[in-house]
Amino acid sequence: MKAVLITGVAGLIGSRMAKWVLANKPNYQVIGVDNLSGGYEDHIDDKVIFYKADLATEDLNRIFSLHEVEYVYHFAAYAAEGLSPFIRKFNYTNNVVATANVINACITHKVKRLVFTSSMAVYGNGNPPFDEEDQPKPIDPYGIAKFACEMDIQVAGEQHALDWCIIRPHNVYGAHQNIWDRYRNVLGIWIYQKLNNKPITICGDGSQRRAFSYIDDCLLPLWNAAAAAGASKQIINLGSKQEYTILEAAKLLDQIVGGVQIKFTEGRHEVHLAYSTHEKSEKILGFKETTDLSSGLKEMWEWAKVQPKRTQFVWPKYELEKGLYQFWK
Ligand SMILES: NC(=O)c1ccc[n+]([C@@H]2O[C@H](COP(=O)([O-])OP(=O)(O)OC[C@H]3O[C@@H](n4cnc5c(N)ncnc54)[C@H](O)[C@@H]3O)[C@@H](O)[C@H]2O)c1
Repeated sequence: MKAVLITGVAGLIGSRMAKWVLANKPNYQVIGVDNLSGGYEDHIDDKVIFYKADLATEDLNRIFSLHEVEYVYHFAAYAAEGLSPFIRKFNYTNNVVATANVINACITHKVKRLVFTSSMAVYGNGNPPFDEEDQPKPIDPYGIAKFACEMDIQVAGEQHALDWCIIRPHNVYGAHQNIWDRYRNVLGIWIYQKLNNKPITICGDGSQRRAFSYIDDCLLPLWNAAAAAGASKQIINLGSKQEYTILEAAKLLDQIVGGVQIKFTEGRHEVHLAYSTHEKSEKILGFKETTDLSSGLKEMWEWAKVQPKRTQFVWPKYELEKGLYQFWK
């Protein structure tokens, strides 16, 4: 039976994509790979054939040779952008080395198309809305790693006839997000803080602008990234068209959950205005925004309230302490 292989299958996008493929494409098996470093086994659908493996070290031929893998979604990564300067070596191993391993397996096993989730982080301090034609200029190791992966995939496309589609999603949120990691995804961090009766934190004054993308709106476009002829060898932004300041997003959360207190912390090294164009995703991937931030946050909050109590993840030791923000010490 033909198979779709998803790396990062225990994470937000991976676990939700796996469910979507199982529900909508019954002719495909779903093979999942994850080392469970940032995702949870109970998020993986029972029908997924799951391999617990670290992509940076695993011989992936072992897994690929057991299945008829047609499409590969490479979602696995540690996407803590703000933390990446303090865990540089880990960041490059987990993102670039792991991706090289996936590329090798895709070429060896003649995969029909590799879909890679890069990030809006590649644009750096560009001129928003970021367009796919803009020259990337990332400002942190996470963005650099994503850009390196993008370039390597394209080179593999030229030299080894690997077909690919690179997606640059932005601020994807929803059920199955890791809300127990204090380093990433502002909405998840806030929901964890609120559930634990703490003030929600905003780095700086909250005037940063972002567009938040509901996971359900991204799934059909991700399928098309693998299967649509027009997505071959394309780089495509994916996500919401509606931007908010971080402060506006915090106020919206307050309207939903009530009683939110805000604690402003020191600012951090980040892009101030970050949102993307969407025309290409609409035209090629059939992206439609059906869920606004208010409705999506309500759904996520309902999901979060019934999640098991888990301890918040804290890095036992950073690679670099110099310049580390007070709130992570
Ligand atoms: N969620 C977003 O807002 C967003 C935005 C832009 C890009 N992306 C990219 O999309 C992808 C998926 O994001 P997500 O939000 O689902 O993240 P996530 O953290 O929820 O899922 C990532 C999964 O990858 C796994 N993983 C990490 N390193 C691994 C390794 N070395 N070997 C095997 N498994 C490993 C983790 O355990 C986790 O289950 C990532 O590549 C991320 O960089 C996400």
